[in-house]
Amino acid sequence: MPSHIHDVQEIYKIATIPGDGIGVEITEAAVRVLQKLASSSGTIHFEFENFDWSSKTYLKKGYYIPPDGIDKLKNFDAVYFGAVGWPNVPDHISLWGLMLPLRNSLQQYVNVRPTRILRGTSSPLRNCKPGDLDWVIIRENSEGEYSGHGGTTHAASGSAVATEVSIFTQVGIERIMRFAFETAQKRPRKKLTMVTKSNAQRHGMVLWDTVYHEVKKDYPDVETDKMLVDAMTVRMTLHPETMDTIVATNLHADILSDLAAALSGSIGIAPSSNLDPTRRNPSMFEPIHGSAPDIAGKGIANPVGAFWSAAEMVRWLGQEDAADKLMECIEKVTESGTKTKDLGGSSTTEQVTVAVCNELEKAF
Ligand code: NAI
Ligand code: MG
Repeated sequence: MPSHIHDVQEIYKIATIPGDGIGVEITEAAVRVLQKLASSSGTIHFEFENFDWSSKTYLKKGYYIPPDGIDKLKNFDAVYFGAVGWPNVPDHISLWGLMLPLRNSLQQYVNVRPTRILRGTSSPLRNCKPGDLDWVIIRENSEGEYSGHGGTTHAASGSAVATEVSIFTQVGIERIMRFAFETAQKRPRKKLTMVTKSNAQRHGMVLWDTVYHEVKKDYPDVETDKMLVDAMTVRMTLHPETMDTIVATNLHADILSDLAAALSGSIGIAPSSNLDPTRRNPSMFEPIHGSAPDIAGKGIANPVGAFWSAAEMVRWLGQEDAADKLMECIEKVTESGTKTKDLGGSSTTEQVTVAVCNELEKAF
């Protein structure tokens, strides 16, 4: 027990679900950084409990989440997630076995994905300077293209018919739209770009447009524009400085946020928050990348996205100052050149983790 435990003001119970591949490596790193943040602050204390729900346990037991798993998670203040997926389990089984049920049963209907160019890193875009790319993508996280509606008929016949039905509800669209406007309103530029494909998809996407025009009336101080998703990829690449907050459907924002991460330097830096804004259920924090089987076990995964996700968790728990300090420490480390290979450096996961912990010792 740390010597200053008697000074502790806030105790947070965090469930960790490392999952597969580099998910395990970066979760371990994030827990160390969070422990260091807590001990350096002297006012925060984390109690971690680890849940070994992974493709390995699935192959042994036949399930990812045990029957009482979700109920157990409800006793925590937040969930920290690594990544799920391994080549010996089909990806739709792992995604629908672990990550999507977590998001759905914990009512995490918002997914927040910030991106910016961290100090000491650079964009693959030739003319893009730090500050030119500073976005928050708000992704609808509960319905749309990932609703799971559909089925397969004539599967064995050689002429299979499959349907994949998107579900868009007025309630679902309105709540994500309001969250996006409120996010934009809190940021200095107060600017929101709404993305759909309402020219070709004339029902659900048109409902998005309709709700957007209604909700917009309540936020007259937010400057808005509207893009089709294909044109959006062009604008993100050629004019990144023209955007700030972006709202899009589950599928579109999934794709755009990977692009955003790549444009800001690497998928290895990008964080995400799965939020239940009502706070009735714990929210869940995870880097946007997957389990990266190609580099798993090599000790070279970039832990920055995991640390940034941890900072977002700390912020959601109400510790703004500690979250800012952690972000500052991460950027001091990237600025100093301690970076993994994906960012053009040669440091290991361990070296980046130690460097961030060292900065944290000096931060308070
Ligand atoms: P991925 O994000 O795991 O990897 C894509 C590429 O980026 C790979 O070359 C990988 O080495 C690199 N990369 C990813 N994270 C990195 C990091 N932190 N540091 C350095 N390089 C990094 O996506 P991929 O390959 O499409 O999927 C692999 C598995 O992960 C699949 O089973 C997939 O279903 C699963 N997945 C899970 C997600 C989640 O749990 N949230 C999200 C995306 C994929
Ligand atoms: Mg994705």
